Order: sequence, then C-alpha cells, then structure tokens
Amino acid sequence: RTMEWRVDARAPRSEELAEAARLLREGQTVAFPTETVYGLGADARSDEAVARIFEAKGRPSDNPLIVHIADRAQLGALVLPWGELAERLMDRFWPGPLTLVLPAAPGAVSPRVTAGLDTVAVRMPSHPVALALIAAAGCPVAAPSANRSGRPSPTLAAHVAGDLAGRIAGIVDGGAAGVGLESTVVEIDGETVRILRPGGVTAEELREVAPRVEYDAVAAPGAGMEVSVNASVGMSAEAASGSPAIGGGENLSTAVSDIASPGPDSAPRRGSMAAIEQAHDLAARPGEPRRTSSAAEPAYAQAARSDQAVGPAQPLGLSADAALAPRSPGMKYAHYAPRGAMELVQGEADARRAYIQRAAHTARSRGDRTGILTFDEHAGGYEADDVISLGSLSRLDNAAQALYAALREFDDRGTQRIWAEAVPETGIGHALMNRLVKAAGHRVVHA
Ligand code: TXA
Ligand code: MG
Repeated sequence: RTMEWRVDARAPRSEELAEAARLLREGQTVAFPTETVYGLGADARSDEAVARIFEAKGRPSDNPLIVHIADRAQLGALVLPWGELAERLMDRFWPGPLTLVLPAAPGAVSPRVTAGLDTVAVRMPSHPVALALIAAAGCPVAAPSANRSGRPSPTLAAHVAGDLAGRIAGIVDGGAAGVGLESTVVEIDGETVRILRPGGVTAEELREVAPRVEYDAVAAPGAGMEVSVNASVGMSAEAASGSPAIGGGENLSTAVSDIASPGPDSAPRRGSMAAIEQAHDLAARPGEPRRTSSAAEPAYAQAARSDQAVGPAQPLGLSADAALAPRSPGMKYAHYAPRGAMELVQGEADARRAYIQRAAHTARSRGDRTGILTFDEHAGGYEADDVISLGSLSRLDNAAQALYAALREFDDRGTQRIWAEAVPETGIGHALMNRLVKAAGHRVVHA
C-alpha cells in the first residue's frame, strides 16, 4: 500500500508532513513535489533506503542520484570544501533548480547514491513542500524523478501514482510541479561552469554569475540531432524504423559566451513560487491532457520502450549521446520516450507543417494512430488522431510545464506515430529541445 497525503503547496503544515518525514527517517521511499518535477526520496545515508529507490524505479545502478538538502548547513557533511564560484552559484540559484556536482566527502552518503563516483550531485529545491519535508526528515534526501525508469518525469502526483503505486511507501501530493523539466546539472572546472544536463536554470542565467559557461558534449545545443530527408518524401524509412540518420554530434564542447540575451518573453524566474503557481493554473486548465482509456500497447512499441537502460540510443558514432562517454551518467540512457515512435521536425514553419501533415496523413491512411505535438498558433492547421498543444509559442516556460504530461497523454491514448515541432533554443527552449530530442530517440529531421 502506498500512502497519500494532500498538502497545500504554498504553506504545508508540519502535521501533514510528519508521517512522510517519519517514513523517510525509517528508510522508506516517499515521493514529493519539487519546483521542477516530482522526486522519489529516501535517506541518502542509508544503503537499504537508497536501494529501495532503484528497485521501485527499475533504475540502472550505475546512474547516480541527486542529494536534496533544505539548509546550507547540511552541505559541509556531504562534500569537500568548495570554491568561490560554487559559492556564488549557490548564493544566486539556491534554493532552486540548479544541481551542483561537487567532490564528495568520503563516506557521507551511501555509495549507491554516487554510483561509485567520487563526486556527489547536490541541490536545494525551492518548493516549500520539498524544503519542509527534507527539514522534517532531518537527513539529506536522495531523490531521482519519481517515474518508472524510461518514462517521462512526473509533474503531477497522479503521474507518480500511475508509475509507482504499490511500489513506494508514500506520495505527498502538492499539486503541479513548477518548471516541468528537471534541474540543470553542472560541474565546476576552475572558472568554468559546465552544463551536464540543461534544465530549469538556463545558460543565460548561469552566465550572470560565471565567467565562462559551456555545455558538455551530450548537453550541447543540437547534440544528437541528425538531419535527414527533405520535406517531399515524408518520414524516411530510416526515421520510421528508428535507424540512424547522418551527421550530428561533432560539437564537443560549445562555449556559450556568444549566447543571445534571453528571449522576448519575460517569464517569471523559474524555480520561484510563481512557476509553481503557474503550473497549478495550467494543470487545472480545461482542455489540458485528458485521461482517456488507454489502448493496448503495440508490441513494437513495447519492445522499443524497455524500462531498462538501452545503452547508447544509436550505434556508435551516430549520435552525440552514443558516441561520447557522458560526464553525467544519466545522459546515456534513453529517457523520456513515449511508447509511440516520435520524430522531431525542424525547419521553417510552412515547410514544417507541410511535412508533418503529409507524413501524418500517410501514416493514418495506413491505419496508424497518429499524433502531433504542436503549439496553439499551429494546432488548427493539423489533422491527426491526437493533436496536443503545449500552449502558446510565445510562452516556452508553459510548454516546459506541459511537455511530460503531453507525452504521457500520447501513451494513454495509444498514439503510434508522433511528430513534434522543434522550438527555438533560447532560454528554457534549450532544455525543452534536449528533452524533445531524447523523446524522439534522436530522430530529428529538417523539413
Ligand atoms: O529536477 C531534478 O533534478 C529532479 C528533482 C526530483 O530534483 N531530479 C532528477 O533526478 O532529475 P534524476 O535522478 O532523474 O537525474 C539525476 C541526474 C542524472 O542525469 C545523473 O546522471 C546526474 O544527475 N548525476 C547525479 N550524480 C551525478 C554525479 N556525481 N556526476 C554527474 N552527474 C550526476
Ligand atoms: Mg529522471
């Protein structure tokens, strides 16, 4: 049995969290909301507790976990003395969606947390429920996203329950998570901040405090993107069968000193209470992904959606994820993939729409259930079984909040072939594209 507690996201009361905190102290697993996605927490110091996380998620043991703290005072016990740049990042972005990979203090956390690395990833979330729960538990809390391994991260308690009910001790339901995509994971190398996983804090924001910001190869803009086919041929046989197209992955480390200033939309700072409130509004909006009866999963999709690590997404040399040993071990796993075969489509708007519409039409006339992941401005131009909008193109922060629920919705509806529109890679758009490329299993075409 999995217990569930409904709490006020803004002002959780300590009585409401007492039982969840007790379960954490006793070495059990409890899911809770953060300002990024829901996490599945356990006492980071306890081998058995951490083992329960891996077991419940079906997570490969070589993928390390992020340790969550509620107070900077907890940090000294977890990591070796840190430098001035790390301090500046904490001052600016904590609490919030930034994870710092730092040299671990020997023996501070279970070796299962670090997967045997001599570093540990730490973050202080800004969600009031996460902070209150960690403080009440009184221990550092290891917490990956609270999904079955290989499924989209959960942005609602219902997503957690759908994946993990019966497998974990409890779920704290604080409504919709905030940003909707995971935290930005960075390591510090001298005066350089290297982005291992793009996320809730953007490269532009990091540049405000760091002299140099760069992307690790697998996190770089365009990493793993392959351009294939042209608009006239519909989805190529290669793309449809999932075999790799050409090119991509050459940029090893991309400096972002030339990065453009943040886009025209002045979204509220992510990780703030505003992002959480906005996520609540979106989750409550009528017409958002509905729960519909779930169709039987096609066998080919089941095979494609192994809950286990599938290793490199593509044969060696063909995608950045596959060709390079990632510094963030999690980046090598096929993540975020819907059960249907998805293709990400770049290119100028008209050509892109024509390409998608033609490909969807062809697939549909063959009897496939087709889906299109698009935006309000374009949704009317498509005909397919499942047209899902991520909101207005002018609000990529809203799109980030809606992405994972949309991918789950395609799964619930049994959509077999999905085309997704690419987005501009500025601000949160970079993290959004990173997740879209993964969801598409690196099938990226330029129409
Ligand atoms: O927003 C988030 O970060 C969410 C919420 C729950 O806090 N958590 C999350 O955890 O996304 P998870 O386990 O799904 O992703 C952790 C990422 C993985 O890519 C992992 O490889 C990387 O952090 N990571 C953890 N420890 C690391 C280390 N010592 N060195 C490099 N990467 C590390
Ligand atoms: Mg995850």
